[in-house]
Amino acid sequence: MHLLISVVFLLLLQTVSSLSPAEWRSQSIYFLLTDRFGRTDNSTTAECDVEKRLYCGGTWQGIINQLDYIQGMGFTAIWITPVTEQLSQDTGYGEAYHGYWQQKIYNLDSHLGTADDLKALSKALHDRGMYLMVDVVANHMGYDGPGNSVDYSVFDPFDSSSYFHKYCLISNYDDQNDVQNCWLGDTTVSLPDLNTKDAEVRELWYDWVTGLVSNYSIDGLRIDTVKHVEKTFWEGYNQAAGVYCVGEVFDGDPKYTCAYQSYLDAVLNYPIYYPLLNAFKAPGGNMGDLYNMVNSVASHCSDPTVLGNFIENHDNPRFASYTDDYSLAKNAITFMFLSDGIPIIYAGEEQHYSGGSDPGNREAVWLSGYSTDAELYKFIATTNKIRSLVILKDNKYVTSKNVPFYQDDNTFAMRKGSGNSQAITVLSNAGSSSDSYSVTVKGAEYSSGTQLIDLYSCAKVTVGDDGSISLQVESGLPKVLVPASYAGDALCGGSSAPSIA
Ligand SMILES: *[C@@H]1O[C@H](CO)[C@@H](O)[C@H](O)[C@H]1NC(C)=O
Ligand SMILES: *[C@@H]1O[C@H](CO)[C@@H](O)[C@H](O)[C@H]1NC(C)=O
Repeated sequence: MHLLISVVFLLLLQTVSSLSPAEWRSQSIYFLLTDRFGRTDNSTTAECDVEKRLYCGGTWQGIINQLDYIQGMGFTAIWITPVTEQLSQDTGYGEAYHGYWQQKIYNLDSHLGTADDLKALSKALHDRGMYLMVDVVANHMGYDGPGNSVDYSVFDPFDSSSYFHKYCLISNYDDQNDVQNCWLGDTTVSLPDLNTKDAEVRELWYDWVTGLVSNYSIDGLRIDTVKHVEKTFWEGYNQAAGVYCVGEVFDGDPKYTCAYQSYLDAVLNYPIYYPLLNAFKAPGGNMGDLYNMVNSVASHCSDPTVLGNFIENHDNPRFASYTDDYSLAKNAITFMFLSDGIPIIYAGEEQHYSGGSDPGNREAVWLSGYSTDAELYKFIATTNKIRSLVILKDNKYVTSKNVPFYQDDNTFAMRKGSGNSQAITVLSNAGSSSDSYSVTVKGAEYSSGTQLIDLYSCAKVTVGDDGSISLQVESGLPKVLVPASYAGDALCGGSSAPSIA
């Protein structure tokens, strides 16, 4: 009888959904701040003044209400901000609406909903064949006040100073000991820094993360402030989580950031973020640095194909705060989706939100009315379709390495995939008001005479004698070229598809 129960239990365990890094490669992630995305009452007018830094009323139920909007853009997963109970005060920096100031890790933030609501969100996603990624913090707690006045009894379970590093604020970000052992935050809001080398702290965290993933059927984790904890902590943490973990290492140096991939499944692609931004944040941006960084990341990271790609998040100014040019935004998005790694769009990006630094970049998405007519909403939907199509047609697409092969002052081209199934991405930094220009890219590795189609414009092109591809770039728009035979029900299926000379 015992044996039978064990077998049934094992079978149950296996049916609990959880995605491996390999399975995450083909996903596409929509990242949202729970407090700022959707409300239980579905309001699209509830006020949310970002400058006040207060809770605005978003909930897990509010996310459930808007899953059609998210899935309508083609996303297969969402990443939500931390779920744990936070400090309760209105501090000098406002309330903990973002979720990075936790105090009681076994409780949920009641502003966002109940345990049943979070389970319902997980189930609603799984019922649609979608996945849940949750943001977690292991480096610190949050406290309203200076570090030398912390009342440790407010923390659960870390209710004594003995669980923490001695108070000191990080003063030198180039000194890794300082970065790991001193505290983030300042004297207004402290971020008491856990002594993660302590065996008891480690055990508490590892047990906690196992429990969290299992209690809420979580499919992946985004981990906050990874570089502020010693690397050896993360290996056990990732193992205890048992699902894909992507860590935030807030540093653009691929050597520094990729080193963490020996301890965690993946990191957010900060090395690509900066040159990607610089290539497209104004017309005529630097294409060479982006070209070179693709190769640097591939050589430093143990697996660039599982990194998390982004051009916006809640810690950096939105793309549209640099430029309102839609073509430039589209090029940055196309790069994120068609290069190595897993694309992540930050909620509001599809509405061309333009908030600057935190807290300006944390606008309530409901105030857009969740318009599905927004230009970037439609563009992202098409780009998700393109990525799904190339993944469907080429079972090596997601694991093959992206190869940049052409650049000039205005144009950058890369290929990804196997043999005669490669997707050729051609990007332009010319901007939407630029004149049409022609460019010939060489090195795509398609043979002469092959018919290719741009899945955005549905325009066709034939590969020239020496394998070169001659293209006309209109309004600085990006192109994704694939074999013309890919045109079909998903994309470019209509008989009206134009052809170009
Ligand atoms: C909110 O929208 C969802 C999805 O359309 C709907 O099922 C629900 O009843 C709405 N709730 C309210 C309070 O209007
Ligand atoms: C998971 O559920 C168990 C059983 O109810 C509970 O003891 C544990 O604290 C929960 N863990 C988390 C992180 O929610």
